[in-house]
Amino acid sequence: MKVIRSREEILSFSNKCDKEIGIVPTMGNLHDGHLKLVEASLLNNEVTIVTIFVNPKQFGPNEDFQKYPRTLDDDISRISSLEELLKNKDNELIIFAPSSVEEVYPANFNTVISVKGLDNTLCGLNRPGHFDGVCTVVYQLFSLTKAKRAYFGLKDFQQTLIIRKLVKDLLLPVDIHLIDIIRDEDGLALSSRNKYLNVDERLQALTLPKRIKNLEQLVKESGISEAMKKTKIYNKESNVDYFHILDSSNLSPVSNDTCEVVIAGAMRFGNTRLIDNTLVKINA
Ligand code: PAJ
Repeated sequence: MKVIRSREEILSFSNKCDKEIGIVPTMGNLHDGHLKLVEASLLNNEVTIVTIFVNPKQFGPNEDFQKYPRTLDDDISRISSLEELLKNKDNELIIFAPSSVEEVYPANFNTVISVKGLDNTLCGLNRPGHFDGVCTVVYQLFSLTKAKRAYFGLKDFQQTLIIRKLVKDLLLPVDIHLIDIIRDEDGLALSSRNKYLNVDERLQALTLPKRIKNLEQLVKESGISEAMKKTKIYNKESNVDYFHILDSSNLSPVSNDTCEVVIAGAMRFGNTRLIDNTLVKINA
């Protein structure tokens, strides 16, 4: 398995490559959720490029950019354990782990990609500029790798909508594939940030998936307005960033035209902020 550390080398690879490339963008500290995305790409593409880059542009000034877990050696060995899934010997699994921020954003890099309209709710409100940082790096990674398919997790539901809109608006030649949320046995969605939780916080963190489930049940059994009442109660708590039920197609308020809702939540446990969501069909 090749590990590429520089902009020059990834460009030289992707410019010469005549095979279909699937990209799995990550910030590393890989867990089974990330690996599911890699597996999906390996099944569909002759070349899979897993990118590992903690993108400074998507972290706010008081967020965890400095302490975000960087575990490149472990990540490489976790990814190499998937090599056996390569369908034939000509297929390739490559890691692009830029050795510095400049390998992604060279000096005088001055562009920001901003998708308007979908970032004024949920995580966009609590994390101003976050999604501009995500769009800018994702666009850049698409350009560096010339991927034909890209794999993202539904765990970051708002991110998936924004990236799909970016691809649509800019006519990018990349198919976006979405993968279900992978959870621990007790229901907590896997996240690199779960590492920050101490034993007590890890237990408390189960409140988040339990509430999402509870809201899902309310939507199904008692209707949207009962579930909305419950979100208002949750939203009064000091460690709750938000619970919202929105139209999953565009994150607007639920209307008579809504076919599917996203129930999304963000809570803080100690200093750790976790997110979760689920999708529920309605009006069927
Ligand atoms: P990161 O948090 O490392 O996540 C990389 C990808 O893994 C994202 O598409 C995310 O949705 C997916 N993922 C994370 N946890 C998951 C889980 N439990 N189940 C399924 N998929 C999961 O998201 C980012 O990095 C960054 O914003 C990035 C897109 C790489 C841009 O920097």
